[in-house]
Amino acid sequence: MKSVSYRSYGAPDVLRLELRPTPKPKAKEIQVRVHASAVTTADWRLRASDFPGGLWIIGRLMFGLFRPRKPILGMTFAGEVTEVGAGVSKFKTGQKVFGFSGGGAHAEYLTINEDRAVAEMPETLEYSDAAAVPFGGLCALVFLRDVAELKEGQRILIIGATGGVGAYATQIAKAKGAHVTAVCGGTSEDLAQTLGADTVINYHDTDPLAGKETYDVVFDCVGASTFPKAHKVLKKSGLYVPLNFGVRELRQLMTLKKGGKRMKLHVNDDKPEDMQELTALMTEGKLKPVVDRVYDLIDVFEAHSRVQTRHARGTVVLSLG
Ligand SMILES: NC(=O)c1ccc[n+]([C@@H]2O[C@H](COP(=O)([O-])OP(=O)(O)OC[C@H]3O[C@@H](n4cnc5c(N)ncnc54)[C@H](OP(=O)(O)O)[C@@H]3O)[C@@H](O)[C@H]2O)c1
Repeated sequence: MKSVSYRSYGAPDVLRLELRPTPKPKAKEIQVRVHASAVTTADWRLRASDFPGGLWIIGRLMFGLFRPRKPILGMTFAGEVTEVGAGVSKFKTGQKVFGFSGGGAHAEYLTINEDRAVAEMPETLEYSDAAAVPFGGLCALVFLRDVAELKEGQRILIIGATGGVGAYATQIAKAKGAHVTAVCGGTSEDLAQTLGADTVINYHDTDPLAGKETYDVVFDCVGASTFPKAHKVLKKSGLYVPLNFGVRELRQLMTLKKGGKRMKLHVNDDKPEDMQELTALMTEGKLKPVVDRVYDLIDVFEAHSRVQTRHARGTVVLSLG
């Protein structure tokens, strides 16, 4: 099968198109012919070994100290089930599925345990749309629902509101009935409005953390703020949730006073029931895939470079059709 591999950390040119053996499904696994997969900020960070906030060594210990432990990137997939292993009961051959694999999806075939974050694809979606959703969708859902515990009527500031996670966070926050102030650049203001933002701040013109407006939640999807800066625009017991954090934030957590403004740090997980919730939101018309651009497999270098700009509008997608 065709795949994109990386054998060393570095710039996009460490990526190689490689022919590899097609994986066979073990017990409880399904084999999926991948038709589309997102290129996410996680793919860029792993490829470049660009782990934020002084957590470089932890990243290297987790993903390979001297070279990548798992050579195939690709966190999300959309495709067709081509084979099922022994004991598989949730999926059958021929079914269209999408999900979060956490790696291995930049290849024509992958295998994944049926109990991981996999769901049947909504009928109305193309593969490239479906592959766009799981990374940003799962992250936004879990951070807003479980970490921020966002409630109807609350005011949320989303920094990086039109990116790989933000584009889904903006929609999910609206679906929860929150008042959303979206922060993005001038060229993405229209997108933020389409996604449902009540107010849009162009960060080139206005510092979103210097105004008089206060928020119940500040959700920073891009790493453009700090807790001390966000502190000024948080309500009395408001919550700061940064997706990117490091040693600085871990230290700040230890000095937080009880009853005051709060910060929560979290690392996302992937659960099948959350894929079901995303599917339900899409079926109800409350969540739409946001695709920046679809690249052919051969153009994976350009796709990675696009993600690394930090100006993607939604999700960058790789086509393996
Ligand atoms: N903790 C976890 O479990 C977890 C999970 C997933 C991801 N992450 C991390 O969270 C981040 C998610 O990134 P993503 O995929 O959403 O990023 P992204 O796609 O690169 O974000 C792009 C967005 O950020 C905006 N932006 C760029 N520079 C900005 C600035 N200086 N101020 C305000 N907005 C700015 C862009 O707007 P314009 O294009 O209009 O400029 C666009 O809306 C990654 O760093 C990833 O590593 C963490």
